[in-house]
Amino acid sequence: MKVLFAASEIHPLIKTGGLADVAGSLPIALKKQGIDIKLIMPAYSGILDKVKPIKRETNLGNPFNTGDLILLESSLPNSDVPIYLVQCQSLFERDAGPYLDSYGYDYPDNHIRFAAFSWVCAFLAQHGQLLGWKPDLLHLNDWQTGFAAAYLKAWKTQHPPIITTVHNLRYNGSFPLERFPDVRLSNDLLNMHGMEFYGQFSALKAGLVFADAITTVSPTYAKEILTPEYGDGLDGTLSAISHKLTGILNGVDYDEWSPEVDPHIDTQYSIDSIDKKLANKLALQRENNLPEKPEVPVFGVVSRLTEQKGLDLIPIAMETALKQGAMLILLGSGDATLEAQYLALQERYPQQVAVRIGYDEAYSHRLQAGVDILLIPSRFEPCGLTQLYALKYGTLPLVRKTGGLADTIFEVGNKANGFVFENASIKDLTDAIQRSLAAFANLGTWRELQHNAMGQDHSWKRVTGEWISLYKKLLSNA
Ligand code: ADP
Ligand code: GLC
Repeated sequence: MKVLFAASEIHPLIKTGGLADVAGSLPIALKKQGIDIKLIMPAYSGILDKVKPIKRETNLGNPFNTGDLILLESSLPNSDVPIYLVQCQSLFERDAGPYLDSYGYDYPDNHIRFAAFSWVCAFLAQHGQLLGWKPDLLHLNDWQTGFAAAYLKAWKTQHPPIITTVHNLRYNGSFPLERFPDVRLSNDLLNMHGMEFYGQFSALKAGLVFADAITTVSPTYAKEILTPEYGDGLDGTLSAISHKLTGILNGVDYDEWSPEVDPHIDTQYSIDSIDKKLANKLALQRENNLPEKPEVPVFGVVSRLTEQKGLDLIPIAMETALKQGAMLILLGSGDATLEAQYLALQERYPQQVAVRIGYDEAYSHRLQAGVDILLIPSRFEPCGLTQLYALKYGTLPLVRKTGGLADTIFEVGNKANGFVFENASIKDLTDAIQRSLAAFANLGTWRELQHNAMGQDHSWKRVTGEWISLYKKLLSNA
């Protein structure tokens, strides 16, 4: 079975969030199960240095008049998964990130950039035989690939079945109608059953309505997005096509995220040597010029700083815990107001709060290994990966009960592995923080919870069966 897996970010080549982690690990797991899978991603600046050597270059021309689109073939580092990189200097080689400029604004031509990328995905799905490999299935991820479904629809010829995976419905890739001519699609697709979206056009909506199957990254989020509260304006569309929608929980690449083998952390440890986790806590306190205090509970945050993550609740909700002596260590970047709020908190509690604004992969591992409790008070969370990483490191997640957090973290019962609160309110979060402190004060209770956490299996192996069944079902219907 040949699958083309398209994503706009893939770890370890480029990453802004969990999509990159998934795109850099699920295909490896599927390949191990015998799926002939190839990745495709834009060749952003600096990517080619990470994937050498390039095995083949093919010029595909360019219907967008932005310079030729060149398809390069290589493989994902540290794996045998082939990857196509779509090169086009004017579209993809920029100084800042994959989506935003250095001031944090969307590139004004994002619709053209990702239409062009998607066009190449659609081209390969349709004409891959010209390059010696035609996929049986096209697997799209998020809005940046959604236009591919629109091109295949517009070309009106038979094409491989399309699966669209929604990692985050909030980012729907919608643009003003006056830019529609730029993406070279017919107006026939611009209606409420097509890609029209509240007076705009939406790449994600194209990916949803023109797909043969839709998945999202947890069973709970699959239900939530059918409601107005979580549907981001697409709940009506999704409800009408909910027979195509399933939720498959994300997995973790334990070669990358396991304290037994993690090269980034101070001292490696496992479920059989949890005591050694303490050395990482002391190292983290030291690294942040905080007093080395083994007995003090340390809370952590590793996150994009956005409204989604509910991080505005933490500074107030943590006040009592900080007065009681707890510490808080944060790594994140994004919203300037949130950044300022956390820096202000650090100023008020310089011996207890350490804030690092920025993106730092290695430090995110040290933080996971070093803190006791990871705070994830998300307003919505399609899956969430940081809580899954925390579990493996014996760091107990404290989460809001939503999306993938609700599916993976439990406060009561024999699977108890963290702390869970209902409402995105300061009161509920404050109470949960106090419950976590009470548990931390009792070493026996704490170790039991850590054992549960570290013993749970969230490897991709658990869910590759679900993916393969879905792929097979689509092929048999095709
Ligand atoms: P989302 O995709 O919504 O950001 P996830 O929990 O699925 O949330 O994935 C976030 C990923 O990004 C994790 O691998 C996390 O460790 C990483 N991450 C988030 N912020 C940072 C940061 N500032 N520095 C390093 N890694 C980060
Ligand atoms: C998105 C979601 C996150 C999910 C990740 C990977 O960025 O916000 O919850 O874990 O995608 O699927």
